[in-house]
Amino acid sequence: MSEELLYKPGLEGVPAARSKVSYIDGRQGVLEYRGYAIQDLAEHASFLEVSYLLIWGQLPTRDELDAFEHDIRYHRRIKYRIRDMMKCFPESGHPMDALQASAAALGLFYSRRALDDPIYIRNAVVRLLAKIPTMVAAFQLIRKGNDPVQPRDDLDYAANFLYMLSERIPDPLAARVFDVCLTLHAEHSMNASTFSAMVTSSTLTDPYAVIASAVGTLGGPLHGGANESVIEMLEEIGSVENVESYVDDCITNKKKIMGFGHRVYKVKDPRATILQGLAEQLFAKFGHDEYYDVALKMEQVVTDRLGTKGIYPNVDFYSGLVYRKLDIPTDLFTPLFAIARVAGWLAHWKEQIGENRIFRPTQIYDGHHDRQYVSIENVNVQYQFSPTPHRGYIQ
Ligand code: CMC
Repeated sequence: MSEELLYKPGLEGVPAARSKVSYIDGRQGVLEYRGYAIQDLAEHASFLEVSYLLIWGQLPTRDELDAFEHDIRYHRRIKYRIRDMMKCFPESGHPMDALQASAAALGLFYSRRALDDPIYIRNAVVRLLAKIPTMVAAFQLIRKGNDPVQPRDDLDYAANFLYMLSERIPDPLAARVFDVCLTLHAEHSMNASTFSAMVTSSTLTDPYAVIASAVGTLGGPLHGGANESVIEMLEEIGSVENVESYVDDCITNKKKIMGFGHRVYKVKDPRATILQGLAEQLFAKFGHDEYYDVALKMEQVVTDRLGTKGIYPNVDFYSGLVYRKLDIPTDLFTPLFAIARVAGWLAHWKEQIGENRIFRPTQIYDGHHDRQYVSIENVNVQYQFSPTPHRGYIQ
C-alpha cells in the first residue's frame, strides 16, 4: 500500500498501541475503565480506588486501598523550593503553564530512573497523584498574593484539594461531587495528551517528564482547554433567547461550538450525562445557575441542527457548570482535568514501559530538493517583494 493511502491526518482511526486500560464504544456511548462501566465507578468508587484500578489493573482490597490512600495522604506536601519557584512565576501566567513547569520540576528532586524497580514505580505514582493537586492549589493562592496552605491529613483527596484552594473545609456534597468529577476525567483511551504521555514514556525518560509533556498537550482548546471555553461561550451568549442565533452563526461561519463533538463519540458522551446530574444536585443544594438554562437550550438547538452529524455534548460541556458552582475559577478547570488525568497517564506509562518500543513514525516529505545555497552576502533583490521571508528577502 502506498504511503499516501496509509497517511491519516490526526491519525484518525489508526491504532497506535494495544491497551487494557480503558474501552470506548463511541456509537453506543460506552466507556469502561479496565472493564468496569463508568456509571458504576462514578456511583460507587472513590477517585483513588479508580486510580488504583487504572494503574494496577484490579480493584484494590480494603488493605490495599488503605495503604495507597495512606501513602498519598502523607506525600501531599511539596518542597519549599518548588513553592519558592512558583512564587517567581508571573501572576498573569496560565495555571496550566504553571502546572507544566512545576510537574517538570519534580523530576529535579526525584531524578532517579529505575523503571524496572516496582518500588520506584509505586513511589512515582504516589508522588504524582499526591503532589499535583497541591501544586495547582499553591499557584492559585500564590497568584492571589497569599502563601500556599499545607495539605490537611485529616481530609480525604477531594476535600483536601478544595480546602487547599479556598482555606475552608468544603461541604460534603461539594467534596463528593468533585471526587466523582475526578473519576470521570481520570482516563479516556488514546487521546492527544495520553498519546503525548506514551511517546514521552517510550523514550524511557522519567515519569515527571511524562506527566509534564501530557499536561502541555492537555492545555489546548481542542482538548482539555475546551471546558474553559464553554463558560466563556455561555457568558458571551448571555441568555436563552440568544442561543439559536449564536448556534446558527457558528454553523454558517464554520465555527466550532465548544463542548460539542468528539472524535470517537457519535452520541452524547456518557460523562456529560453524569456531569449534568451532578450539576443538578449542586443547584438543588446551593442554588440555580442561569447559565444552566442557556446550556440546556444549547444542547437542544445543537442536537437539532447537528445531531445527524453525530455532534452532541462532550465531557467539557457540563463540567464547567459544576466547577462554577464549586466556586472554582474558570482558568483552573483544565488543571482540575489534569489532576484527574494523571491517573490515566500513569496507567499508560506503566503499560508502555512494561512492553516498550520507542515511537518513531514516518512522514511523507512534501518539501524541496536540490536547492541552491545563496550566500547571505548575496542578497538577491528580485525577492524584495516576496510575501514569505527567506534568504534574499529584504524586510
Ligand atoms: N461545532 C460545530 N461543528 C462541529 C463541531 C463543533 N463543536 N465538532 C465537529 N463539528 C463538525 C465539523 O465542522 C465537521 O463538519 P464538516 O464535515 O461539515 O466539515 C465535522 O463535524 C467533523 O469535525 P472535525 O473537526 O473534523 O472532527 P474531529 O474529530 O477532528 O474533532 C473535536 C473533534 C473534539 C476536536 C471537535 O469536535 C471540536 O473541535 N469540538 C469543540 C472543542 C471541544 O469541545 N473539545 C473537547 C473535546 S472532548 C474532551 C477532550 O478530548 O479533551
